[in-house]
Amino acid sequence: MKVCFATNNPHKIKEMGAILGPSFLLTGLADIGCAEELPETQSTLEGNALQKAQYVFDHYQVACFADDSGLEVEALNGEPGVDSAHYAGKQRNAEDNMNLLLQKLSGLPNRKAQFRTIIALVEPTGVMLFEGSVQGEILMEKRGIGGFGYDPIFQPEGYTRSFAEMSMEEKNEVSHRARAVKKLVDYLQQTYSR
Ligand code: IMP
Repeated sequence: MKVCFATNNPHKIKEMGAILGPSFLLTGLADIGCAEELPETQSTLEGNALQKAQYVFDHYQVACFADDSGLEVEALNGEPGVDSAHYAGKQRNAEDNMNLLLQKLSGLPNRKAQFRTIIALVEPTGVMLFEGSVQGEILMEKRGIGGFGYDPIFQPEGYTRSFAEMSMEEKNEVSHRARAVKKLVDYLQQTYSR
């Protein structure tokens, strides 16, 4: 089965290709000749993931999946959510985003949060959504130097280290993205593998 991952990140494509195995022909956006920026104008993770996958399916006639992720903080009614990448502004700077979040949470006792990933798959037969999440809390200050984004201030439930203090393998055991990917891969393998 041929399926496109709506990303330009060769690392993500290689990683996903290895998980899916040889019965899938996995392509990225460049492989199908898609050089334009995909639309991402919806107000939810579900909406954005679906919008990107549907765009590729409609314009390139290939089954496609796309992901969208965000950090949702309970005391801030789910902020930054879909705005996670540019929470503190257009510069999309992780330090600025974390500083703003810590500032907004200062004095608030509830520091519960979750990371959530949605993967939308659009095929000729219809649309499927796969969700992965990880519960945790926002730390009082940044800890660790690994990872990216909000990793230094997020500590998953049951752990005493932030995502930025974990190895990539450890993070992948519990991460929202890994959990959503597993659901997608299980579905594709059950549906298309022989
Ligand atoms: P994307 O949809 O995977 O590009 O994620 C959007 C934004 O959410 C990123 O730019 C980060 O700010 C944040 N984010 C998503 N996943 C993670 C994660 O695993 N660690 C830290 N930040 C994340």
